[in-house]
Amino acid sequence: MPGKVIIGTQWGDEGKGKVVDLLAERAHVVVRFQGGNNAGHTIVRDGETFKFHLIPSGILYRGKTCVIGNGVVVDPSVLIEELEGLRRRRVDVGGLRLSANAHLIMPYHVMLDTAGEAKLGKLEIGTTKRGIGPCYADKSARLGIRVQDLLDAKILRKKIFAALEPKKQMLRPFARDPKLDLHAMTEEYLSYGHRLEPHIADTSRLCWEALDAGRTVLFEGAQATLLDLDHGTYPFVTSSNPVAGAACVGAGVGPTDIDEVWGVCKAYTTRVGSGPFPTELEDEVGAHMRDRGHEFGTTTGRERRCGWLDLVALRFAVRVNGMTSLALTKLDVLSDFAEIPVCTRYRLPDGSETDEFPAHQSDFHHARPVYETLPGWREPLDDGLPAAARGYVEFVESALELEVSMIGTGADRESVITRDQPAYSRS
Ligand code: GDP
Ligand code: IMO
Ligand code: MG
Repeated sequence: MPGKVIIGTQWGDEGKGKVVDLLAERAHVVVRFQGGNNAGHTIVRDGETFKFHLIPSGILYRGKTCVIGNGVVVDPSVLIEELEGLRRRRVDVGGLRLSANAHLIMPYHVMLDTAGEAKLGKLEIGTTKRGIGPCYADKSARLGIRVQDLLDAKILRKKIFAALEPKKQMLRPFARDPKLDLHAMTEEYLSYGHRLEPHIADTSRLCWEALDAGRTVLFEGAQATLLDLDHGTYPFVTSSNPVAGAACVGAGVGPTDIDEVWGVCKAYTTRVGSGPFPTELEDEVGAHMRDRGHEFGTTTGRERRCGWLDLVALRFAVRVNGMTSLALTKLDVLSDFAEIPVCTRYRLPDGSETDEFPAHQSDFHHARPVYETLPGWREPLDDGLPAAARGYVEFVESALELEVSMIGTGADRESVITRDQPAYSRS
């Protein structure tokens, strides 16, 4: 089965990095297809922690091809820093390929992101302030600068000039900022181009060639379904499409090349930034979950909001992604709770109950969770799953009508249980 997409099913940070790292062992190519350095994907191997923002989570395997696809927005300074960090840790980064068509995050994008949030005041989205939204906006407005532009000084200067002029109007309070100087910016980006040139490639063709030869290609999603620009909790979303369908556009392959869609889901729910979150726990239970799960952002260090598992939202994620299996992560974090509520329905403002994700924003903003309470297990999962933990997994499976193929029981790559292992059915 050569084409496998791995996506987040909630509001991000589900453990996609770890799942990609595990599946990458048997893959030839790993491709990021959307988002930028708003992502933070963590891999823990033999107690050593790696945090990736742009580079695909397959890079730790020597000789594997890792692609940053055309759908990604790339801050070249962040990419170079990430490459250098890995080289310092003796990781071979020779397999990294960067799409010539990927768009570049420019200094004015970062400034616009910060200024935009400040203008929104109380209505702020809580972005990562990495320039993601303004960069995708320029891409749509056809004012974007692409990776291939870095290789031609004349074109680069012309394109930056065209993009910069309207930004200077928008950023009037910063107009004299040296970061907005055309000449300095062109020189800075040319030097990035020089350093990244060995990695720049026609990555759509590279993916196609691997798929055509029957090799396995993993498409690594960033962010998640409920942060999707079209299907998420708009406007409290990111500016790309993290759903599985976007893997085709963002990597440059066709829908018939996708064979499996893996959803990654935490055994509970977290969210960073603003926006509705029906099962949020704003009490000491949520704080306890945050402590046990170390729920602090990989990218911004912000506290993640925590709450119980939301099966209504997950059923929606199964549908819009066409999911074929689920990886349920961080089950170990729930080992400390005597009872575990899971949300199976929403109560809407008119008093009715539904198990369908509301199509209208106001219904979702006012939806109250209706819980079923499952027994906890209150013991570690190191020696396998006790009956109550298995009960939890099987409850999720029957609610979603989808097999849980992988269960995370700790941050390290060894801490995982698959359905066929004896550890799953420990008596
Ligand atoms: P991603 O953005 O989806 O890749 O997820 P993050 O890396 O931002 O956040 C997930 C966090 O949970 C990371 O710190 C992982 O090391 C950690 N993690 C992943 N799977 C498990 C698990 O099964 N149990 C525990 N305790 N931690 C996990
Ligand atoms: P990974 O890939 C969690 C959130 C931000 C904010 C909203 C918009 O690690 O799961 P943006 O900077 O994208 O314009 O911010 O999206 N957000 C994430 N939350 N995990 C992520 O990535 C996220 N990337 C963006 O917190 O609410
Ligand atoms: Mg993350």
